[in-house]
Amino acid sequence: MLRTTNKKSSIGSYALGVLFLLELSVSGYAQVVTPVEGESWLEHRHRAFGATSMGKSSGVYGPAASMPGEGQPPHPALQLSNKFTGQTSRLYGSDLYRLKCQACHGASGAGAPPEINSVIDPVRATSARMYMDRMKKVGMDVSSKDAAALAKQARGTLLARLHKGGTDMPSPNPDLTDVEVRSLFAYLQQLAGIPGAEKQQVPVVEPPLRVGEHIVKSTCHICHASVGHNPSPRELLEGQIPPLSSLTSRLGLNEFVTKVTVGASALEGSPAAGVRGHMPVFTYLTPDEAADAYLYLSLYPPRK
Ligand code: HEC
Ligand code: HEC
Repeated sequence: MLRTTNKKSSIGSYALGVLFLLELSVSGYAQVVTPVEGESWLEHRHRAFGATSMGKSSGVYGPAASMPGEGQPPHPALQLSNKFTGQTSRLYGSDLYRLKCQACHGASGAGAPPEINSVIDPVRATSARMYMDRMKKVGMDVSSKDAAALAKQARGTLLARLHKGGTDMPSPNPDLTDVEVRSLFAYLQQLAGIPGAEKQQVPVVEPPLRVGEHIVKSTCHICHASVGHNPSPRELLEGQIPPLSSLTSRLGLNEFVTKVTVGASALEGSPAAGVRGHMPVFTYLTPDEAADAYLYLSLYPPRK
């Protein structure tokens, strides 16, 4: 077995250790990690970057351009926790929601109507109790049998969405395992305020590469294509979005994590540095999670 003696060893040897761990966990949890592939969701739906809210729920962008001669503000030091040792983490549905849904639907689930519908009503519809209470308020008595039948139908629709997505919503990628679906579903119910849902939360054990896969496929792939032309500084300024396959060679781990979690101006370090980036800052991802995304992109090179 491979051992890393130096804690700050290169990402390469660290990565091999993780791969080893992954083998173990894959057999235990039936999570199969695969490379990200294909065009971005925005390309797929022919949405112009400036004309959509998808992927932009944080509403926070990189630092503004500095005045000439001012130089760049110093970056906060990168803080990866000791936990960042390739160990599996225990996630809850709230984490899966954050990694996979929040970029479009926001922390509250409200989305950005009319483009991105709220998740709340379709989730409430899965509760027979809530339905009966609501109907009672408007003076209608619904039998519990009828309510249960409607709730079951709503549940079916919601679960189908968790596997297949919608017209303008990508199918949750990678394919969710049964326990991931249960975990996410339980959190959606909590988000929608269904009584008792907070007691139903299901933990999922996820290796770092799986965490990285969730983030890249569900969040980064909204805007970034998997492969393609690696834009020059000029092309980047003109609005081209670098493909996922180019990110780990364009940026080191540190810069990558900084760009994702606290933001950085576009073209950092180049003569044209200091231009405000258009990429949203994912303030709700931890540095460890962003590092998992970097690791995943390094070990599973994106495919056409
Ligand atoms: C790329 C953006 C995007 C992501 C990521 C995304 N959604 Fe959606 N979602 C949408 C859009 C757009 C709609 C409305 C249009 C449609 O249904 O295709 C929608 C609709 C929904 C609806 C139905 C709302 C209704 O009125 O019926 C639910 C429920 C939902 N999403 C849940 C989720 C969950 C859970 C996740 C995470 C696993 C998720 N979405 C991830 C964009 C997204
Ligand atoms: C809403 C669209 C959008 C989403 C979602 C998005 N990006 Fe970006 N990203 C951009 C744009 C636009 C640029 C180029 C302009 C800039 O630097 O802000 C960019 C640039 C970058 C860069 C800098 C490349 C360089 O050479 O400086 C990195 C790294 C990056 N993205 C990583 C990610 C990761 C990782 C994710 C997922 C957590 C992600 N992006 C999600 C739009 C997006």
